[in-house]
Amino acid sequence: MSTTAIILAAGQGTRMCSSLPKVLHPLAAKPLLQWVIDAVLASGINDLQVVYGQNEQVKAGVDSDHLQWVQQAEQLGTGHAVNQAVRTHKSANVEQILILYGDTPLITPRTLQHLLASTPNDAVGLLTAKVSDPTGLGRIIKNEQAEVVAIVEEKDATDEQKKITEINTGIMLLPAKRAASWLANLNNDNAQGEYYLTDVIAMAVADQVDIKAIQVRDNMEVMGINTRKQLAQCERNYQMKTTEELMAQGVSFADPARFDLRGTLECEQDVNFDINVIIEGQVKIAKGVKIGANVILKNVTIGANTDILPNSMLEECIVGADCSIGPFARLRPGTELADQVKIGNFVETKKAKIGSGSKVSHLSYIGDAVIGKQVNIGAGTITCNYDGVNKYTTTIKDHAFIGSDSQLIAPVTIGENAYIGAGSSISKDAPANKLTVARARQKTLENWQPPKK
Ligand code: UD1
Ligand code: CA
Repeated sequence: MSTTAIILAAGQGTRMCSSLPKVLHPLAAKPLLQWVIDAVLASGINDLQVVYGQNEQVKAGVDSDHLQWVQQAEQLGTGHAVNQAVRTHKSANVEQILILYGDTPLITPRTLQHLLASTPNDAVGLLTAKVSDPTGLGRIIKNEQAEVVAIVEEKDATDEQKKITEINTGIMLLPAKRAASWLANLNNDNAQGEYYLTDVIAMAVADQVDIKAIQVRDNMEVMGINTRKQLAQCERNYQMKTTEELMAQGVSFADPARFDLRGTLECEQDVNFDINVIIEGQVKIAKGVKIGANVILKNVTIGANTDILPNSMLEECIVGADCSIGPFARLRPGTELADQVKIGNFVETKKAKIGSGSKVSHLSYIGDAVIGKQVNIGAGTITCNYDGVNKYTTTIKDHAFIGSDSQLIAPVTIGENAYIGAGSSISKDAPANKLTVARARQKTLENWQPPKK
C-alpha cells in the first residue's frame, strides 16, 4: 500500500497576463511547478501525477523523470481535475492521495510529512492557514465542537462565512477507497459552475470520516501565486527566509534585501556578502570569504579567506584559499585556481589551471592554459588559443615571467624561470631560465627629417 500525489497545474493562469503557463513562471529561477514536484519527492512520495491542461508547454518546462502526466482537456474545476488523475491511476494499491496545487511553490517536505504522519489512513487530512486577509480563498467551516464540516469558496460564502480567517491551502490528503466515489459525485451547482474539490469535505463529514485539520506554521509555505505581484512578493519572502537562515549560521549581509539565491548555497562561518550578489546553481563558500558588490557566482567553489572584489562574474570554476579576484574579473568554465592566486581587473580566464601564488593582474585573456606556481603574467597578455578551427594549450612553468602585452600563440610552452620580453609574439617554446624576446628591435633613424609643406 502506498501514497500517491496529484499536483493540479491545468489552469493557464489568466491573471499572470502571460503566454507562459503560470506554473512555469520562475521563483528563484525554478518553475513554480518544479518547486512543488521537488517538495513531494523530497517528502518521500515517488508516485506522482501532474494534471495539465491545453498547454503542452508545461510538460517541457519541468523535469518529468519521476511523474506521470494526466491531461484535463477542459478546466471544469479542481475536483474534476483530481478525478481525471484518480481515474487514470494504474495501481490498485493506493491508500492515500495527497493533493497539491502547482501554484503554491514554497510548501516544504517537512510540512507534507507532518500532514502524512498526522492523518490516519482512513481519515481526511487538511492543511489550513490562519490569514489576516482571506479574500478570494476557501473558508474552513467548523461546528461548535470545532470540527471541520465544510469548505466554502469565497464566491459562495455568506457575509458571516466571509469573516472566517482560517482558509483552505489547497493541500489535502484523501483516503483512496472513498475518494473515487466522492469525486464521481461532485456537482457544479455553485457560483462558478465548477466541480470543486473542496466539496469532498462535506461529503466526508456525511460519511462520518474524520477530518484532521492541521494549521501550517509559516503561511509563506502555502502562499498561492495568481498574479505577478504575488510572485514578486513570494520571491522576496523566499529570499528573506534564505538570508535569515544563513545569518543564523554565521554569514553576514550588508543588506539581506539585496541578495538573490537561485540555487543552493553552502557557506561556512564569517562569509560576508556586500550588496547585489546573485548566486546561481550550486555554490560552496569556505570560511572568511568576502564577496563584493554586484558579484555573480554560478556553480563555483571558493576556498577560505578569498576576496571576490566587486563586479566580478565567476562560472563553473574552483577558486582556492587566500585568492584575490577582481574587481571586474570574468572567470569562465573550467577555471581552477590554486591558493593565493591573484586575478586582477579586466581579466578573462577559461579552462585555465593556475598554480599557487601566480598573478594575472591586468587586462588579460588566459584560455586553455596550464600555469605553474609563482608565475607573473604581465598586463595585456593574451593566450592565442584558437586558430579558427581548433583550440590549443599554453603551458607556463613555475616562476616564469611574461612581459606585458605578449601574445602566446598556442600550442606553446614557456619553461621554468623563463622571461618573456614585453610585447613579444611567442610562437615557439621558450626555454627555461632565459630571456626570450620576439619583437622587432627598436631603432632610431639618425638622418630622419620631419616632412615639410
Ligand atoms: C483554490 C481552492 C480554495 C483555496 C485556494 C488556495 C477550490 C475549489 N478552491 O481556489 O479553497 O483556498 O485554492 O490557493 O479548490 N486547476 C486545474 N484544473 C481546473 C481548475 C484548477 O488543474 O479545472 C488548478 C489550477 O491550475 C491551480 C489549482 O488547480 O494550480 C487551483 O486552482 P485555482 O483556480 O487557482 O483555485 P482558487 O480559486 O485559487
Ligand atoms: Ca489559486
